[in-house]
Amino acid sequence: VTLKNYIIQNLPPTVKHILPFFGNTIEYGIDPVKFLQKCQKEYGDTFTFLMLGRMMTFTLGPDGNHFLFNVKLKDATAEGAYETLTVPVFGKEVVYDVPNSLFMEQKKFVKDALSTAAFKSYLPIITYEVKDYLGSVFENLQAGQETEIETFQTMSELTIRTAAHCLMGKEIRDGLRVGSVTKLYHDLDAGFRPINVFFKWLPLPAYFARDKANLEMTNLFKTIMKKRKAENDTETLDVLNGLMRAEYKDGSKPSDDAIAHLMIALLLGGQHTSSTTSSWILFELARRPDVVADLLKEQSMVLTGKPDTPPHLLPDLDYESLRKLTLMDCVMKESLRIHTPIHTIMRFVENDVEYKGLIIPKGHFVCAAPQVSHLTESKFPEPYKFDPLRHLGSDEGSGEWTINGVDIAQKSARSLFLPFGAGRHRCIGEQFAFVQNKTIVSLFIREYVHKLPVDKKTGQTWFPEPDYTSLITIPKVPRNLLVKKRAEA
Ligand code: HEM
Repeated sequence: VTLKNYIIQNLPPTVKHILPFFGNTIEYGIDPVKFLQKCQKEYGDTFTFLMLGRMMTFTLGPDGNHFLFNVKLKDATAEGAYETLTVPVFGKEVVYDVPNSLFMEQKKFVKDALSTAAFKSYLPIITYEVKDYLGSVFENLQAGQETEIETFQTMSELTIRTAAHCLMGKEIRDGLRVGSVTKLYHDLDAGFRPINVFFKWLPLPAYFARDKANLEMTNLFKTIMKKRKAENDTETLDVLNGLMRAEYKDGSKPSDDAIAHLMIALLLGGQHTSSTTSSWILFELARRPDVVADLLKEQSMVLTGKPDTPPHLLPDLDYESLRKLTLMDCVMKESLRIHTPIHTIMRFVENDVEYKGLIIPKGHFVCAAPQVSHLTESKFPEPYKFDPLRHLGSDEGSGEWTINGVDIAQKSARSLFLPFGAGRHRCIGEQFAFVQNKTIVSLFIREYVHKLPVDKKTGQTWFPEPDYTSLITIPKVPRNLLVKKRAEA
């Protein structure tokens, strides 16, 4: 048997398709979860399908997750899969533009900057931003009056204001206030096209705006760094200051360009993931007033030692209290389980790699599907039921760097709950995402009562479907909620 024949005989099963080149693109594109679940039933956990001329091999199930998240760098890489998508948006010298070992050091810089002291300093900032923005949105809302919000837009605004202020620094936050940074952000974001994973050089007009925005944003960060160096500000605990102090193992420092590009990567990496999370939490809570009542009771117990302090009399949240909001943690995890922001995770196969006796050849994309894992019935009975308490006592996705002294990134990826990934590419924004979203939702439910709108045609309440067409799963329009001020009992 020649090597070529051996490979051919041991390829994963290929999903049936009719169209050459396009293969199963449309089915996967419209509803990847349904499509992958169907394939899993028919072919088992490992199968390949054709998408825009590329072979996509999925390795589902706990073993598949373990394989993908711990695959050796010589066999498959994230940069091979994401480079064409991300480098033009983030810029050079960082993330998938550099050897993995260097990016790992860059991730460590960010982790170090996100210290407990930093998180403590973020709570008042997030609280201020949430109250300020929601106050302005509902400024003219009279007691008892109801209004409709575009949920995802509202949460996106809260996400960018809070993340910019905490992580990027007050200068970028001020730039959002006057609008100069807003346009740059939108141009960068619009340059993010899933199609870029496969086709690098499509001459889309959005790319010119993207490249211009990258240059301008980089220059903006460089100007800020220059000013900060002159002022020698060591008090501010945003990530920018952390990166300015960072040093690689060889003693060299990241260049100003690299720091600026890393900041852009963080700004974009954390935006839709977080704003879709708070949106879905609000949608799920809209049909569970019992859970909202329990969340308010929890805030009351943690902050005042009594279960029934009226919400408008609750003191501000600090970092220690926020950490004690266990039910709120469970609510966020349950929302991430059912509405997983990153439904597919990809690596590019650099060398033929063996998995369970099958050969996944060089040139394939090998993928995990956390959203499919999260809906596995044997692990999560009644998988579509929103049941926050199923996460009680579980340390998976708890927003901590270490659990019992073990680095979470090193923990086995043989799990079926991986909203933040696993292994060397695991999310470093998880803890911030928990702090940010728990605070946003906690403050929102204190002041407002919200519910799902009624669809005029059917007379039924309207819960949005997931939109899988962009890289991050967001609620499909219409995605409105009805909101009124909570009566002060
Ligand atoms: C990596 C999810 C928020 C920055 C990841 C990965 C996932 C993920 C699944 C692994 C990707 C892979 O293996 O290919 C999420 C979710 C979030 C969130 C669900 C919010 C609820 C954030 C925030 C930031 C951030 C707020 C920045 C402050 C990053 C970075 C990586 C990462 C830098 C590392 C990428 C790599 O090593 O290749 N995230 N993320 N994320 N995330 Fe997040």
